[in-house]
Amino acid sequence: MAKRSPSYVCQNCGAAYNRWQGKCDACGEWNSIAEETSAIAAVPASQRPRGRGRVFALESLTGSTDEAPRLVSGIGELDRVTGGGFVRGSVLLLGGDPGIGKSTLLIQACAALANRNARVIYISGEEAAAQVRLRAERLGLASAPVELASETSVEDILATFEHGPPPRLVVIDSIQTMWTDTVESAPGTVTQVRGSAQALIRYAKRSGSTVILVGHVTKDGQIAGPRVVEHMVDAVLSFEGDGGRDFRILRGVKNRFGPTDEIGVFEMTGLGLREVTNPSALFLSERDLGSPGTAVFGGMEGTRPLLVEMQALVAPTSLGTPRRAVVGWDSSRLSMVLAVLEAHCGVKLGGHDVYLNVAGGLRIQEPAADLAVAAALISSLTGAPLPADAVYFGEVSLSGSVRPVAHMGPRLKEAAKLGFHRAVCPVPGNESGSDSGMRVNGVASLATLVADIAASGESQRRKSTKVSP
Ligand code: TYD
Ligand code: MG
Repeated sequence: MAKRSPSYVCQNCGAAYNRWQGKCDACGEWNSIAEETSAIAAVPASQRPRGRGRVFALESLTGSTDEAPRLVSGIGELDRVTGGGFVRGSVLLLGGDPGIGKSTLLIQACAALANRNARVIYISGEEAAAQVRLRAERLGLASAPVELASETSVEDILATFEHGPPPRLVVIDSIQTMWTDTVESAPGTVTQVRGSAQALIRYAKRSGSTVILVGHVTKDGQIAGPRVVEHMVDAVLSFEGDGGRDFRILRGVKNRFGPTDEIGVFEMTGLGLREVTNPSALFLSERDLGSPGTAVFGGMEGTRPLLVEMQALVAPTSLGTPRRAVVGWDSSRLSMVLAVLEAHCGVKLGGHDVYLNVAGGLRIQEPAADLAVAAALISSLTGAPLPADAVYFGEVSLSGSVRPVAHMGPRLKEAAKLGFHRAVCPVPGNESGSDSGMRVNGVASLATLVADIAASGESQRRKSTKVSP
């Protein structure tokens, strides 16, 4: 019998060590290393069964696939993020905070698919079958032919799947509750999560079923424990939302079979998740019209235009080092815009605190938001509200020039659809949006924009002093 040497595995990132230590060198986490014994790793190479290796058949790339390669759920916002449906034999990891609505989304997807005659199995390791059924009843989905079980043993689950036709979709809610016999450590440890995920992934590839693994997310936004699983699966989707609000955003973080820049927008209602097909209207619904410091950004999320409000507050600081606080945007990008304003436009913000917020809890990654952010900052600094019918977009370079951005046409069309009349944006090139009905106000440099906003603020002030003597 081989001696089983214990190994010490970080429960946060999965790094393995020969002896215990207080801090993980790989991820920097304290007290995350625990002793684990892996049955597979404990068998020395010399004692593993030797053989000649099995001969397998090779296939050609130009073969035909008998079934539709993608399984369309019919929930448009979900299909958009997966890239047009679940790919056969693929494995997805759905991460998100507890209580955000992962189970709700997946039971809705399962019901939609089962109603279209696909065999769908939902395995819950957290809730009893009765609880899942109760939720489905509340959502009005109780009649959908979804097969349910409350199980946590991967071997039992796979043995059950081998009976009958292979399911088209399997949901494992959640991967942290699964355990496998092949690994000798407690459920929930990295080794168990990795072992269970490996077994389920092997099953997906062998059978052609799509497997969705649910994963919980830690405070700092990492998918807890199974960071290792992120590398093993084909796609990682993250379900995000703001605790105080009802809408939820599904974002592709990694996708071997589709785009990663698309988002799906849902609203949590008393009857489950409802698709939001026109998110711009949602994100602009609570707009503060006419107050300084807000600019509407004509953005793009993947192939879809999305208008959001950028809110800035610039106020004199009482601290030695002024504060820079950002929610929903990149803080280094904000520093860059502030530096450009200071260096090329003569706007001194060293004595001011700067707060920036993307309304509605959305997270924006596009550099095209630079111009909208700059406009909101200047508007707050000067106290001059921006025109309520204008949208802003454009990338600002370090030299202070405004660089063109892609998809001018869709951005302008979306703005026109939502009742905006003018766009402050890079000087249009060949791809002009003249057919959108928007007045395009091209700005070549950030200094021009600053001068325009300051001038309009000045004229407003003069008008108001004339009216009130
Ligand atoms: P759930 O899907 O259980 O979250 P997760 O699986 O990500 O932990 O969602 C639970 C939350 O959603 C809970 O706070 C109640 C809310 N909810 C609704 O508001 N409406 C509904 O129809 C359902 C089913 C849940
Ligand atoms: Mg759940």
